This record gives sequence, C-alpha cells and structure tokens, in this order.
Amino acid sequence: MPISIRPLRGAFAGEISGVDIAKPITSDEVAAIEAGMDTYAVLVFRDQDITDEQQLAFTRNFGELESYATPGHIQKRADRRLGPGMADFSNLDKDGTILSAEDRVWFFKLGDRLWHSDSSFRPVPAKYSLLSGRIIPSWGSNTEFADMRAAYDALDARTKAEVEDLVCLHSLIYSREAIGFRDLTPEEIEAFRPVRQRLVRVHPVTKRKSLFLSSHAGAIEGWTIPEARMFLRDLTEHATQREFVYSHAWKRHDLVMWDNRQTMHRGRRFDRNEVRDVRRTTLAGHGPTIEPMRCSPSDQAH
Ligand SMILES: [Fe+2]
Repeated sequence: MPISIRPLRGAFAGEISGVDIAKPITSDEVAAIEAGMDTYAVLVFRDQDITDEQQLAFTRNFGELESYATPGHIQKRADRRLGPGMADFSNLDKDGTILSAEDRVWFFKLGDRLWHSDSSFRPVPAKYSLLSGRIIPSWGSNTEFADMRAAYDALDARTKAEVEDLVCLHSLIYSREAIGFRDLTPEEIEAFRPVRQRLVRVHPVTKRKSLFLSSHAGAIEGWTIPEARMFLRDLTEHATQREFVYSHAWKRHDLVMWDNRQTMHRGRRFDRNEVRDVRRTTLAGHGPTIEPMRCSPSDQAH
C-alpha cells in the first residue's frame, strides 16, 4: 500500500498510512516520510505494535540517534528499565512498579508537562522525536503539539523584528525550577549549565522561520531576567493558542513522530495510579543553532 497522509489539523499534523514500522522501509519511503515531516511537522502512525529494536531501527532511517549521557545521579544506569537508545517516558521503575509521588525521577518527568522542545537545553538540540504508546491510561495523557512556524508567521512586524536576532539561554534547571523542583545536586547543576539557542530558527529544507521556544529557556542575552521571562511567557502564550495546537489522544500502539525544530509539545495529566508506558527514540540535530559558548546562570542573574 503506498504511503498517504491525511491532514489532522490543517497543514499541521497528519495521519500517515501505508507504513509498517516493524519492517524495513525503502529509501523512497524514507523520503516520503521526511517530506511529510517537512510539511506537517507531526505525523501519527496508527496500529504499530513494535519492539524497542524495531523502533530503534525505524528511527535510524532518519539520521543519527541522539546520545547524550543522562547524569547518573538522576537515574543510575542499573535503575533504568530500557536499553541503550530508548528513553523511558513511563511512570514505571525498572521493576515495572509505578513511581512514588515523591520520587525525584517523577519530578523530572512532571516537567515534561510544560511546553518544550526536546533537548533544547543541549548544545545541539534534537531533530525528530518518536514516541511509541505501549500502554495508555484510561483518561487524559494527551500529548499536545504547537506549530511554531504558524506562531512565528502570526507575530506582528514589530515583534518579528524584535525577536530576529535574540539569543536565549536554555537549561533543564529553568524548566524544573518553574514547577518548584529546585532540589538539584551540584553535579546536576553542572551537567545542565545553560546553552545558547537562537529564538528564531530557519528550517534547513523548507526555509520557513519558526520560534524556538521551550520552557527550558530562562534568559535572553543582554536582557534582565524578569524582562526576559516575561517576554518568553508572552511569546509562549501567543504560540500555544488553540489555533496553533494539535492535541493527540493516544490509542495503544500509536507512534507519533515530531520535528522539534518546528514544534513545541507537552504531556497532559493522567491518573498517576495507572500505568503509562511510552517510549521515545530521538534523532540528533545537525548542529547548534548558534555557536555554543556556554554561560553560567550567575552571569545572567542581574
Ligand atoms: Fe518532550
């Protein structure tokens, strides 16, 4: 069956059919999916009952896997449930037991309910993320996506000129602090030192501009912190208006693939006493959005 894409939300998000992720795909199929990603930025694949190995093999069709070491103090390797290359976005520990509400691993996961772009706090932010829904809770747990191209296009001319050359500082510390989780070790603070990212990105293929916002952004170079945070909050409010958002209601064995260079996303609430097992593979971006000179948070605290 040839690949076809049915729009789900205008030209933002599409449901793709004619692909079996469990099997190898041809280079023509890879090109068709990439073209779909360039157009839609979010693609939904239904009924994909896959293993971790199949998810990894499918992901590698589109580039190199992202391979940043997660600091061992957040979760030691021996405590991880999944193998290399698989990021665990479930609410389970390695034994398959639901994480306690007081577990700091759970605190880190809760931060993903803020709008963000994956790995924007890394020197080279992520290209695509692929999230596979293995067990879905009975209520809630949607993933919402905001189209940052449409958000950029809808800015007024004055704001477009203002954001054009701005550089933000992104850190996992900023997004966790936003939910009141400040209990980080010196090692974690060092591992998540802020990185620079352009606020306006240009897509390498379509050349469309988009806002590179994320809850990981906590400062703007040359601005005071309060002014920067207020402006970033305003931009985020603008960018996440309903007209720019596709909300994905998960069915078991959905796989959703999104382009972090053109979208933000967030997880939505669910009953934490029910299992949610979703697993992500992530593709590395092609390079930094700007030269990665690192700054210390104290440099900006004026
Ligand atoms: Fe995410």
